[in-house]
Amino acid sequence: MKQLVVDILQNFTSEIIEENMIEVPAYAHLGDYALPCFSFAKKQRKSPHVIAEELATRLKDENIENAKAVNGYVNIFMKRVPFTNSVLSSIHKEGVQYGSSYHGAGDIVTIDMSSPNIAKPFSMGHLRSTVIGNSIALLLEKSGYKPIKINHLGDWGTQFGKLLVAYHLWGDKKKVEKAPIQTLLELYIRFHKEAEIDETLNDKGRAAFKSLEDGEPSALALWEWFRTESLKEFQKIYDLLGVTFDSYQGEAFYNDKMDPIVDELQQKKLLIESDGALVVDVGENVPPCLIKKSDGATLYATRDITAAIHRKKNYHFTKSLYIVGNEQSLHFSQLKIVLNKMGLEWSEAIQHISFGLILKNGKKLSTRKH
Ligand code: ARG
Repeated sequence: MKQLVVDILQNFTSEIIEENMIEVPAYAHLGDYALPCFSFAKKQRKSPHVIAEELATRLKDENIENAKAVNGYVNIFMKRVPFTNSVLSSIHKEGVQYGSSYHGAGDIVTIDMSSPNIAKPFSMGHLRSTVIGNSIALLLEKSGYKPIKINHLGDWGTQFGKLLVAYHLWGDKKKVEKAPIQTLLELYIRFHKEAEIDETLNDKGRAAFKSLEDGEPSALALWEWFRTESLKEFQKIYDLLGVTFDSYQGEAFYNDKMDPIVDELQQKKLLIESDGALVVDVGENVPPCLIKKSDGATLYATRDITAAIHRKKNYHFTKSLYIVGNEQSLHFSQLKIVLNKMGLEWSEAIQHISFGLILKNGKKLSTRKH
C-alpha cells in the first residue's frame, strides 16, 4: 500500500518520494497515510504548510478518497472499496498462504508446551500451555520459522516408585484401564495416607524408583503401561483441540543422559556440596540449583538442563521456548544461569513464556472439581 501511495504522489510532485518518507498517522481519523513536507521547504523556497496545501489540492486518484493539509503534512485517506477488493482478491488467490512471510528463513524454534504429568490430572495450566504454545507455533510457521512442538511429559521421578508400590498392594488392572488417571491418582493418594502409618512404605517407594532407574524390566513394563494409559486420556483433549506434537520425549527420556551432564558440571567445577546434595551456585539473588539429592537421585532441574543441551544438539534451534506458568519462573532463570555458567552461549536463546493462574473466587481452579 505504501508503495502505491508513493507512486501516486510521484505523479503530482517533482520531489523524489521514497517509501520511508510515508508515515502512518497516530490516529485513524487523521488519515491512513501522511507525507511530511518539511524537507522540501528549502529547495522550493516555500513554507511546508504551503507545499502541503498545494499538493493536497492537486492530489486526485481513483484510490484516494481525500487529501488534507495539516501542519505541513499531507494527510491521505484511501478509498475503502479498491483497497478491500485488492485484499480480498489476494486472500482468494493465496488461500492459506495469505499473510505468510519468510522472515524466519527456516530457522528452528523448539516449543516446550503442554507437558502434563503422567498419572495426574491435566490441569488448567497444562491447557493454557497447550493452546498458547500451539498459537505461537502457528504464528511462527506463518512467518517462515520451523517450530518443533515438544510435549515434555512429567513421566519420571520418585513418585513413580510410590505408584508402583501402591499398584502392587492395592491396584486393579481393570479399574486402571477404565479410568487411568483417576485410579492412579487415588492409588497415589492412598499411598501417602498409608505411609503416614507405615513408614516402611516410603523406603519401598524409593527402592521401586531405583529399580525403575536401573531399568528393571517388570518395573519398567508397569511404568510404561501407566504412561500409555495416561497418554490415551491426554490424547482425547489434544484431539478436541486439534493439537499435535513433534515429540513426546518427556523427563524419563533423559534418564540415561544425565550422567555425562553431571560429569561436565563437575569438570567445570560448578558443583558444590550442600548438606550432602550437589548444587550449582547461581548468584546472590537466586537460590542454588539442585542437581542431585543426597541419596544420589536426580531432579527436575537436572532433567531440564540435560533436555536443553539435547535439544540444541538434536534440533539446532535458534530459539527455545518454554510455555509454562509463572510459578516456575525461578526454575527457568536457574536453568539459563546454569547453562550460561557451563559456557554455552546459546543459553541466551532460551525463553520462558509464562502465564498466570486462572483463579475462581481467589482460589486456584482445580481440574478435578470443575
Ligand atoms: N510437567 C511440568 C508441570 O506440570 C511442566 C513441565 C514444563 N516443561 C519443562 N521443560 N520443565 O509442572
